[in-house]
Amino acid sequence: MKNYALCGPPRFLVPPCKNDIHENSKMTLLHAFRYGLPTIGIVIVPIVLTIMYRRCQSRGTTLPIKDDLLSLKTLRRISHYELSQATNGFEESNMLGFGSFGYVYKGRLSDGMEVAIKVFNLQIEGAFQSFDIECDAMRNIVHRNIVKVITCCLSVDFKALVFDYMSNGNLEKWLHSNNCFLDIIQRVDIMIDVAAALEHLHNEHPTPVIHCDLKPSNILLDEDMVAHVGDFGIAKLLGEGDVMKQTMTLATIGYIAPEFGSTGVVSIKCDVYSYGIILIETFTKKKPTDNLFAEEVTIRHWMECSLPKGAIEIADADLLRKEDEYFVVKANCISAIMELALNCSVELPEDRKDMKDVVVELKKIKRRLLNNIKHV
Ligand SMILES: *[C@@H]1O[C@H](CO)[C@@H](O)[C@H](O)[C@H]1NC(C)=O
Repeated sequence: MKNYALCGPPRFLVPPCKNDIHENSKMTLLHAFRYGLPTIGIVIVPIVLTIMYRRCQSRGTTLPIKDDLLSLKTLRRISHYELSQATNGFEESNMLGFGSFGYVYKGRLSDGMEVAIKVFNLQIEGAFQSFDIECDAMRNIVHRNIVKVITCCLSVDFKALVFDYMSNGNLEKWLHSNNCFLDIIQRVDIMIDVAAALEHLHNEHPTPVIHCDLKPSNILLDEDMVAHVGDFGIAKLLGEGDVMKQTMTLATIGYIAPEFGSTGVVSIKCDVYSYGIILIETFTKKKPTDNLFAEEVTIRHWMECSLPKGAIEIADADLLRKEDEYFVVKANCISAIMELALNCSVELPEDRKDMKDVVVELKKIKRRLLNNIKHV
């Protein structure tokens, strides 16, 4: 046995106890490994796992992109080959239109189902992100008035989303093509559908979704003329708080809320603004980008100034005629809708209406219209 009192750090001019100390610490380490680590493991690993799990979960609610891709991956996937077959090799005659990130084709799947296929051009900057955003926004969104994603195609250099095909095209076509006409009730119904879709996105979703690019060409009509909101390519999912800053503005001139255009601040009220502008367009048949309008005199300003002179001043001439036996009823209906449109497109976001109230208000207007038409 050594006398430990006689050894110590060499600086105290005593012989160092090197070996024993070494051995001692070796023993301690060994003990630690043998008994300590498993104990630590048993205690710490579950804690770490719980924390990681919680993190993933909380991330899932604010930024569910990863989850979403997974859930889309578990959807019935479709191959590039099948999509090519469905569109006759992406033939030009099957092209329905194009957006900022690629083309949309009409296709017929092998089971006979008609679909719209949105192919993302991955050469375009932002297309990849747009695909993720759209997948993300579409995840879990199931609503009568929102275009449904059926499946997707994911490979390294080809990405596509497959949607329900809307056989009646879009509202843009129905408002501005010469051979198309919507009567007043059809227009009210379409705008109730769009309002219901927005209400769902804004209020009924755990994570509010802002569409950000609402315009007539993104409002699609099925065979029964039921409207479905589509194209979520630049949608935003709100995490915490109710506004978000977006540096790159891709939304469409004319429909874009002033604060979104100038400062990039996005909130659900941006959609309400666009909705108000579309309401005006739907009943006046004037586009916000019409030559009539400029920086100072927007479509909203024009409507606000003309409305006191009567709905006939602003309404689509095909919709409201003096000789119509229901002229007064229809004029009152259009005036009420224009007042609603003004309240949706107020300059200050906080003063704009909530979509929930818009739905209620429009349904009331429709009921009044139907009752009066029946009883006159
Ligand atoms: C529009 O806003 C005005 C002023 O706030 C209000 O008096 C009116 O009731 C609103 N109308 C509709 C249809 O929301």
